[in-house]
Amino acid sequence: MSRLTDLITQVKGKNNQLGADLEREFRILSARLPFGLNFERHSPEAVELPQRPVRKGDKVRVLPERGTAAKGDARLWQVVRIIKTDQSKAAELELLDPRDPRVRTVAVDDLVVVAEFRDTIYPGLISTGRVDQGGDKPYHTVINGENYHVLRALTFTHRSKIDAIYIDPPYNTGAKDWKYNNDYVEGDDLYRHSKWLAMMERRLLTARELLNPEGSVLIITIDEKEYLRLGLLLEQIFEGSRVQMVSITISPRSTSRANEFSRVDEYAFFVFVGNVEIGAGERSGDDAEVRWLYLRRTQRSLVRGSRPRQFYPVYVDRKTQKIVHIGDPMSSNDRVEDVPVVKGATPVFPIAPDGTPLIWGLTGPSLQQALDGGYVRVTPGNEHQPYTIAYLSTEDIKRVQRGEYRTTGTRTDGSKIVVIPGGKASRPSTVWREARHDAGAYGTSLLRSLIPGRSFPFPKSLYAVEDALRLFIRSKPNAIVLDFFSGSGTTAHAVMRLNRQDGGRRQSISVTNNEVAANEQKALREKGLRPGDAEWEQWGICDFITKPRVEAAITGKAPDGQSVQGEYKFTDEFPLAEGFEENAEFFTLTYETPVAVSHHAAFSRIAPLLWMRAGGRGRRIDRLPATGWAVVEAYGLLVDVDNAAPFQKAIAKIEDLRVAYIVTDDERRFQVITRHLPAHVEPVRLYESYLANFSFANGE
Ligand SMILES: C[S@@+](CC[C@H](N)C(=O)[O-])C[C@H]1O[C@@H](n2cnc3c(N)ncnc32)[C@H](O)[C@@H]1O
Repeated sequence: MSRLTDLITQVKGKNNQLGADLEREFRILSARLPFGLNFERHSPEAVELPQRPVRKGDKVRVLPERGTAAKGDARLWQVVRIIKTDQSKAAELELLDPRDPRVRTVAVDDLVVVAEFRDTIYPGLISTGRVDQGGDKPYHTVINGENYHVLRALTFTHRSKIDAIYIDPPYNTGAKDWKYNNDYVEGDDLYRHSKWLAMMERRLLTARELLNPEGSVLIITIDEKEYLRLGLLLEQIFEGSRVQMVSITISPRSTSRANEFSRVDEYAFFVFVGNVEIGAGERSGDDAEVRWLYLRRTQRSLVRGSRPRQFYPVYVDRKTQKIVHIGDPMSSNDRVEDVPVVKGATPVFPIAPDGTPLIWGLTGPSLQQALDGGYVRVTPGNEHQPYTIAYLSTEDIKRVQRGEYRTTGTRTDGSKIVVIPGGKASRPSTVWREARHDAGAYGTSLLRSLIPGRSFPFPKSLYAVEDALRLFIRSKPNAIVLDFFSGSGTTAHAVMRLNRQDGGRRQSISVTNNEVAANEQKALREKGLRPGDAEWEQWGICDFITKPRVEAAITGKAPDGQSVQGEYKFTDEFPLAEGFEENAEFFTLTYETPVAVSHHAAFSRIAPLLWMRAGGRGRRIDRLPATGWAVVEAYGLLVDVDNAAPFQKAIAKIEDLRVAYIVTDDERRFQVITRHLPAHVEPVRLYESYLANFSFANGE
């Protein structure tokens, strides 16, 4: 027996629980020793939940008086009783310290609920807005919340389903860039590395449960402050996975400090999970296929009628997929049903996936000219626009004519196969030195165009995130990408760009908290405001930056309604004002209590989680159906098991329905019902007390 285990045994004799806790920590620590990374878990994380109403039994802290910048009382109290009078609500509190059994009564308004390590949490989501511009595409989601709790909730919705995680956590600079237990971690904090590692470890362990074990990637950016420790932590958590580090030049014009190399780069760790493959990156010297432009414009202001010569039918032969005729321009009054019939051909119009009639990018004669040269391609489309038509830009046609690009054959639709000699991308190296990764020009300045007048510290270059993700999800058009330190929302934006480049339906999940910048907090406190007040929360990162940025990226309009200025550069160049054909929904994480919540209210808070688990597309069942069951595009919900027959019938009719939620506490009935569901539908049992389905411990 070692000296330590001996001491633990002695403690157990005096206080069994304390001894058991010590033993547990010791075991964890000794298990780490062989890997070389040894850190104190220090104090476990306790998270303040300012928006959660105070109830009997809660753990709370007493807030400093409104209007002061003083630090609050760090001690934890338990609510013994709520005392209500006509005008006010107070709570009788007991100090959670057996050595100092104090009681006091405090106004409920001056308390904040605290979730301590290992307390049970019941997460819920409420929708705070949405943007629909992508037809039946799945929704990108942005969640305002403490990321550890959201990650735990995602273990219900996305276990083993995530294809790529991209995160840019606080770098632990000591300059008020993150908080542990509600306090900024300063540069002189002796435990700053342990706190950072403990914070990261807890989140990465849960993130690991979300990554697809068959093949997925975790990308983490970091700088010189923590890269050594993070590298070891990753090796420890992702034992058996390959880990590589890349250097990315993000500020080519950086200034140097005295007696130091001038720093122009930061790092990104890539953890390769399962058999994930790195796709193509930079040019290698082999030939590459040229990029074709979509004929239909996507900018929402370019609706039918905005350019009268650019709305006309293009007739595509149903057998050969060749364009056989280009019709005349149509006025806004002409009905598309009335266009002349061309035998064996389908008239195609520029219609967005949500059914909105837009315009073509070329007039009929220009299209005819490109077609005659073999520079128009036709591929299958969707319900509203049965064929997708693409053409080669006049610049690229000139390059073909000048012999800079080569044609190597003709496709069945009559289009030429055009290649860029030596333009094929190769596997990138461990050093990325690209002008497009400049965080100043393509992070800070780009963000300023999207949400003028709102600033965010150090957003990534949009193209750096796009390049990193492209390597892993280019060949996965339905990939799900998660960023749980999403800050200004660059990752969601990069995923939308990747979708536009190949018509993909990739989906992003962005999670970030609603912290107000350190320097702004002081002024707000002096005004008598506190976290949780609406006037405070409106300035938080998620509500003030992330959600508006994602909305501006999709709509092409800044929060003030003006068109976003500027052009996207590099791989896919077009005006920012054009936006994207994408959908997004915004949520805020809520904390429910299992008591005092009615059936209906509890259900509406978990409804978004059921929808997300089924793929986050189509309609959502937000209320308990009066008929006992409901079926929407992606999932079904059976609340009354006596209604199983019509439910099963309705489900069988929808081809790509994914999940059937069946609410019953009776395992046998659940089994009977699942036997009659189609094989491609995943049956999921829910407990009748809705919140119990999603409860989890705040830490293991
Ligand atoms: C360095 S920034 C990410 C910047 C982002 N890559 C971009 O391009 O804008 C890190 C973000 O993580 C968020 N964050 C830090 N700790 C968090 C936590 N525990 N839960 C949720 N978000 C957190 C902060 O809101 C901060 O904006």
